[in-house]
Amino acid sequence: MKIKQFLSTKKLFSIRNYSLKVLGIETSCDDTAVAIVTSDRKILAAERYTEREIQRKQGGINPSVCAQQHNQHLPRLIEKCLFDSGTSPKELNAVAVTVTPGLVIALKEGISAAIRFARTHQLPLIPVHHMRAHALSVLLVDETVKFPFSTLLLSGGHALIAVAESEEIFKLYGESMSGSPGECIDKVARHLGSLGSEFDGIHSGSAVEILASRSSESGHLRYPISLPHVEKANMNFDHIKGSYLNLLDRIRRKEGDELDIPDFCASLQNTVTRHIATKLHCFFDSLEAENRLPKQLIIGGGVAANNYIFNAISKLSAAHGISTTKTPLSLCTDNAEMIAYTGILMYENRWKSILWTPEEIPDTIYAHARTPIGIDASSEILDQPRRQLVNSTIHGNEAIRFRNFDNFRSK
Ligand code: KG4
Ligand code: ZN
Repeated sequence: MKIKQFLSTKKLFSIRNYSLKVLGIETSCDDTAVAIVTSDRKILAAERYTEREIQRKQGGINPSVCAQQHNQHLPRLIEKCLFDSGTSPKELNAVAVTVTPGLVIALKEGISAAIRFARTHQLPLIPVHHMRAHALSVLLVDETVKFPFSTLLLSGGHALIAVAESEEIFKLYGESMSGSPGECIDKVARHLGSLGSEFDGIHSGSAVEILASRSSESGHLRYPISLPHVEKANMNFDHIKGSYLNLLDRIRRKEGDELDIPDFCASLQNTVTRHIATKLHCFFDSLEAENRLPKQLIIGGGVAANNYIFNAISKLSAAHGISTTKTPLSLCTDNAEMIAYTGILMYENRWKSILWTPEEIPDTIYAHARTPIGIDASSEILDQPRRQLVNSTIHGNEAIRFRNFDNFRSK
């Protein structure tokens, strides 16, 4: 990695004078995605291919099936993006590719394609962290977002609470110790059996959200479980998943087919939301105590598409004087636009990360299943928040309450 040598090339010195154009490749899970994005925030082309329904029918995500899919479809999607945007490879400034975290064999397919393309067309290669890209993707569409901001990322692979101090510095305050909200919801939804053809081809999480919206008034309380006990701002979604799978078995054994699916979905969604809200409150409370809490929270990741979860989080944030911004839906789930744009930010900010010149691109780049988003800052989180959140108040239009400090603020 001779980054200094690269940074001194004529091309990079003149980057401020023209718009950068970067090809992004994302293959960390089951979406094969390619996009071409410019530094002036234009998405010139974006393609995404997934066989979600087939995988769902086979019982969940199979890493080797994902890898095969990426291998088969990447060349076509790259060609299509170039064609649709009228871009010749010569006009590109770099290739950005997801290298971590994700399914290693799936990531490897994107990495190989990116290496081949970058070498063939003599382009620099930028390795991108998938979760940082989720956090930064909002900058592609919202100029008002300024560093530092807090970020809550909820996906099928992760849950984390971090502060983005800049494009390059992230502090990690809390994360899931086991499981993720997306996988938890998806797995429980699968155990509900066929939900009907109206849900074919959409994420299980979104099916659960739609079904929950059809629940009875207090349906979200009908199937309660106890929330996991996890330290500080950390989370545990495997606990919630296990409890709901057990509950489902028990109900089925006892009551036959009497399960009320909308109420069950509403209860599952409410429990996941209460867990996230409790931990986010702990984070807010800890940083407020030190006067270090950023005034803006960005929510991203596939699960952020869930309006029930978003509303609860925004209500809680407002009670702490924090504004909440949701990453637009098209950028919430896995996509290559966020990878390309993160690549641009890294390129523009002359990031101290590894950025390979065309001559230096190695034969292979390691793909890592897990890499933290940033510095571990969990020691800054209080063991117990100073005020307890009455977490039942995250539901609907109820005003957020804190124990011993009712109606602290409502919105
Ligand atoms: O970020 P993402 O596309 O992929 C990962 O990096 O994991 O997130 C996918 C996850 C899936 O688990 C999916 O069920 C969930 O996001 N999801 C939702 C909703 N839409 C997608 N979960 C809850 N409610 C939704 N509306
Ligand atoms: Zn993701």
